[in-house]
Amino acid sequence: MSNLFRKKTLASLLEMPEEGAHTLKRTLTATSLIALGIGAIIGAGLFVRTAAAAANNAGPAVTLGFMVAGIGCALAGLCYAEFASMIPVAGSAYTYSYATLGELVAWVIGWDLVLEYALGAATVSIAWSEYLNKLVGYFGWHIPFEWCHSPFEKLMDAHGAMLAHGFMNIPALFILLMLSLLLMRGTKESAFVNTIIVMTKIAIVILFICFGWQFMNPANHTPYIPAAGTYTDSQGVDHNYGGIMGILAAAGVVFFAFIGFDAVSTAAQEAKNPKKDMPIGILGSLAVCTVLYILFAHVLTGVASVDDFRHAGREASVTYAIQTYMTGFGWLAKLVTVAILAGFSSVILVMLMGQSRVFYTMSKDGLIPAIFSDLHPTWHTPYKSNILLFLFIGLFSAFVPGDIVGDMTSIGTLFAFILVCAGVIIMRKSDPDAERPFRTPLVPLVPILGIVVCGAMIFGLGWANWVRLFIWLIIGFVIYFSYSIKNSKLNK
Ligand code: ALA
Repeated sequence: MSNLFRKKTLASLLEMPEEGAHTLKRTLTATSLIALGIGAIIGAGLFVRTAAAAANNAGPAVTLGFMVAGIGCALAGLCYAEFASMIPVAGSAYTYSYATLGELVAWVIGWDLVLEYALGAATVSIAWSEYLNKLVGYFGWHIPFEWCHSPFEKLMDAHGAMLAHGFMNIPALFILLMLSLLLMRGTKESAFVNTIIVMTKIAIVILFICFGWQFMNPANHTPYIPAAGTYTDSQGVDHNYGGIMGILAAAGVVFFAFIGFDAVSTAAQEAKNPKKDMPIGILGSLAVCTVLYILFAHVLTGVASVDDFRHAGREASVTYAIQTYMTGFGWLAKLVTVAILAGFSSVILVMLMGQSRVFYTMSKDGLIPAIFSDLHPTWHTPYKSNILLFLFIGLFSAFVPGDIVGDMTSIGTLFAFILVCAGVIIMRKSDPDAERPFRTPLVPLVPILGIVVCGAMIFGLGWANWVRLFIWLIIGFVIYFSYSIKNSKLNK
């Protein structure tokens, strides 16, 4: 029983990075960390999930959903920052909790982070596939519905008759493979590509806000908060729509758009000056994105209507809105499509990187097999782990709808955030004198509010997602009690 709560000491965590030749290289600066953060943050959440949340949950009030999600992230981010500056090693929330809450909770978080990073990467790869379809459309081609959708998706006509059935999402699988290969070559090269893409991505968001502003139709923003009710989408799934529940549900959905700022913390072991740069990287990237999101969502829901997002503009919504309503801006639609494809690639890259780093640390700890921490002799990357993760994530990319993996990503991450917030409170009690280069302000108020706001979003995501999270955790427990508990390095 005591095994379940055994902990790594802070001292042992801080020693780890100096272990010798078989560790990751320290190459990232504060600027590259912010770029890494924004690279992970702006992606499918903004360019795909915003429209989905407007259509299914909140209408134009999706902006309020962004506010709730942003507040939740800022609160959790402040907690993350304390940990990241205190324990600047690979592995993110997993590592922090190993030192604070013990092995079982660390396992739960590490397992839960798979939802965040691995399924996050799958979600964005599916979104990539939507925009690729737009791109090839400019050349007069189109990818058949069955080869760019999962078996759970149907194409319906206006009268509700089925036109086609998904089979396998090949473009999603393709982009995942390309980026897995790139990642195997090393983080420095990947971070450079990432910085260029980040610039483009921010430029696109700003251009859309500026040019789209004049095309907003006040009718699309009326009423701003729809009356509370239920909406059944074209795939037959019920959603909370309108009112407070709609806004909370939308917050849970668009929360996806913020995921990634914590991915910065998974790169702590590769940061040059982690104690100072980690908090800057995390909070800096979060602040920039929140402002852009609210403006973007306001313009998007002003340009196109909820009905558009439910039907013709259901996929690749941003390009759809520009093409349909912003006369004279065909060039912007094309530019946005290309930039979004590049932007999504950088998100997938960071997610894949985060996932392989978490697994690297868990494997070093003996909780998962050693293959996940085998480094390549010259590239110094966990290349075998990258291959295995590609196979696992690929199953979701190819065969599960984006809405489902997206919401699973959100709920898994929210749950991890709650545990991190709790961890800060516990750690202040158990290790009051540990050095904290960055201190979360107003403890315990900030962590408690973080728990409440993230909990409200979990509530908003609805029972189907609670069940999925629960099943995922059960699978995790089975692995922990049959493998990890025996193989943990703390046994030796
Ligand atoms: N925040 C990332 C995105 O929206 C995961 O794509």
